[in-house]
Amino acid sequence: MPNQNKNSELVEKILSLKEKRKAVILTHNYQRPEVQDIGDFVGDSLELSRKAAEVNAPVIVFCGVHFMAETASILSPDSVVLLPDVESGCPMADMITVEQLIAKKKELPGVRVVCYVNSSAAVKAESDICCTSANAVNVVRSMGESKILFIPDQYLGYYVTTRLRRDMYLWPGFCPTHVKIQAQDIIDQKKRYPGAVALAHPECRPEVTAVADEVLSTGGMLRYARTAQAEVMIIATETGILHRLKKENFGKTFVPATAKAVCPNMKRITLEKVLWALEEMKTEVKVPIDVRKRAISAVDRMLSL
Ligand code: 13P
Ligand code: SF4
Repeated sequence: MPNQNKNSELVEKILSLKEKRKAVILTHNYQRPEVQDIGDFVGDSLELSRKAAEVNAPVIVFCGVHFMAETASILSPDSVVLLPDVESGCPMADMITVEQLIAKKKELPGVRVVCYVNSSAAVKAESDICCTSANAVNVVRSMGESKILFIPDQYLGYYVTTRLRRDMYLWPGFCPTHVKIQAQDIIDQKKRYPGAVALAHPECRPEVTAVADEVLSTGGMLRYARTAQAEVMIIATETGILHRLKKENFGKTFVPATAKAVCPNMKRITLEKVLWALEEMKTEVKVPIDVRKRAISAVDRMLSL
């Protein structure tokens, strides 16, 4: 009970300060339940990018990880974009630096770079087009026969090659949270819940997506669950999404493939930190103008598809 009272006090303060600052709160599907619940908009990476481009608010509080706040700053340069915990990074995004990418492009003359949004703004600035887990297959399809370097997630890249039956150079990055999910986890849950349908994120290893019934982005999972006939769904992605799945689908059962799939960075943001961000207007994430100018073409190309 004391925790609940504390949360409702914090929520009240956040809402009143949010109004004063004319701020909009964007929240990723992996955030803590109480943080999702104060979001004006909760979504996957693609949906949040679209929202950031259209909200037209003086202040955006981004409850997600650093690259997402950067993308919001690229798309909404006149807004002050606040990340409530500046340490909330993405280890996969850090698996490629702009220097490494430039060197690789020299090694592979003529290659076109498809860059998963889980990357820094500087890396996006050196890429031809961005993609998210929701649109990666369509983005690569739009590149025709070109020679493609897919960065930084090898597993999302590999998944795209299997869907499109084509080769690509794959950067050896990965998500440390999604690689914790094992194929055996899904097999075991299917034994426990006969008839259950397994939904896996394409950041999972190939042997995991191979035993899943559907491979979907987090937004895709939410849409699938709404109309699914199955009563039980096994969810192979970061466990934060279970909150929304349960909240929006009363009467259906959602079980994680494994409780180990927790992204510590996504969980750094708390209600207190959201309040402090609005009080102190910190920490602002701003992409330098020269980087923004080059990065925006890769992001815009994706959004225009
Ligand atoms: P979605 O694009 O499905 O939201 O997942 C991205 C992700 O893993 C965020 O880190
Ligand atoms: Fe990065 Fe993985 Fe966390 Fe997503 S879940 S923010 S890809 S570490």
